[in-house]
Amino acid sequence: MRIILCGFGVVGQSLVKLFVSRSEDLYAKYGLKPRVVGVFDSRGSAVDQSGLDLEKLIDTKKKTGTVKNYSKTKNALSGIDMIKNLDAEVLIETTASNYKDAEPGMSHITNAMKHKMHVISVNKGPLALAFPSLMELATYNQVMFKFSGTVGGGTPILDYAKNSLRGERITSFAGILNGTTNYILTNMTNGLSFDEALQDAKKKGYVEADESLDLDGLDAAAKLVILANWIMDMKVTMPDIDCTGIRTVTTSDIKNAAKNKCAVKLIASCNKELKVSPIEVPIDDPLCVNGTLNAIAFTSEHSGTQTIIGRGAGGIETASSILRDLLDIRKEIARI
Ligand SMILES: NC(=O)c1ccc[n+]([C@@H]2O[C@H](COP(=O)([O-])OP(=O)(O)OC[C@H]3O[C@@H](n4cnc5c(N)ncnc54)[C@H](OP(=O)(O)O)[C@@H]3O)[C@@H](O)[C@H]2O)c1
Repeated sequence: MRIILCGFGVVGQSLVKLFVSRSEDLYAKYGLKPRVVGVFDSRGSAVDQSGLDLEKLIDTKKKTGTVKNYSKTKNALSGIDMIKNLDAEVLIETTASNYKDAEPGMSHITNAMKHKMHVISVNKGPLALAFPSLMELATYNQVMFKFSGTVGGGTPILDYAKNSLRGERITSFAGILNGTTNYILTNMTNGLSFDEALQDAKKKGYVEADESLDLDGLDAAAKLVILANWIMDMKVTMPDIDCTGIRTVTTSDIKNAAKNKCAVKLIASCNKELKVSPIEVPIDDPLCVNGTLNAIAFTSEHSGTQTIIGRGAGGIETASSILRDLLDIRKEIARI
């Protein structure tokens, strides 16, 4: 299967390492032979229509900081040129999420769909700003659009709600969808001030380069948009979310919650309205997970409330969700 990979950061590199370490069993078990024909980062690209040497690609990125030094005859194709001119079945979008205009991911995805490529995105920006129209574009061009890694990292939250609960009517859901803010709030519960907890989270590398994505609830809101569209069939985008982050949570809020046998958690919820806000959650509620964990509780008409807990992010976890999507696409192509 020929693949174009957009972005070669933590997730992109984890995916390629997964392809290398699993190549034999991916072929033996699933008949999947991923062939990465093009990859680009912010500084340039590497192309080989017969398939890039993945170990050399990782080594080049590690040693020189960019994939453009992969071959001596530097390739001048931009990302968009590559999408328009290379032969590939699948585009995997792993550039940084941005919630202002969703670029560059939006152009990568829309161009790929117009060129009849199936798309896997872990980049939340395009989905948060334009989920309904991207779905229409995929349908119009008869391509598959997969995005398992956008919510829950490697924890299959979207699949669970869509497939394991098929036939059910999910009436509401609520969850902790951002591990960074959960880590900060957990440490505040353990006695740190907001600033101390934030500095600690930064030291551990948990905070996005633009901290507002975590602290102001934008990352959680983006995931809520994706869930609402995919699971509840709502046609919503970011502006539809009533969003409050955790900057205003004080030590006394945390102490008051503790008196009520609760902890303050940043909860993204879909129940009549779509909302992200810090609220008190009883400490014996399965949703009340600590540290960087994510959790989401789905309430459905007949099967009650079920909570899924898992690691919400991480390079290798997210790469494993891309692999799941790729296997689904492979299976579907084989079926047609
Ligand atoms: N990390 C996680 O645990 C996780 C989990 C779920 C979803 N995600 C999402 O997955 C995506 C990737 O995350 P990450 O952690 O891998 O981020 P990252 O390490 O920052 O990697 C982003 C990659 O995108 C490239 N890039 C940025 N701007 C570009 C541009 N204009 N044109 C071409 N390439 C560009 C970067 O190039 P350089 O290498 O040259 O800087 C880098 O290779 C993000 O959208 C993130 O929200 C991440």
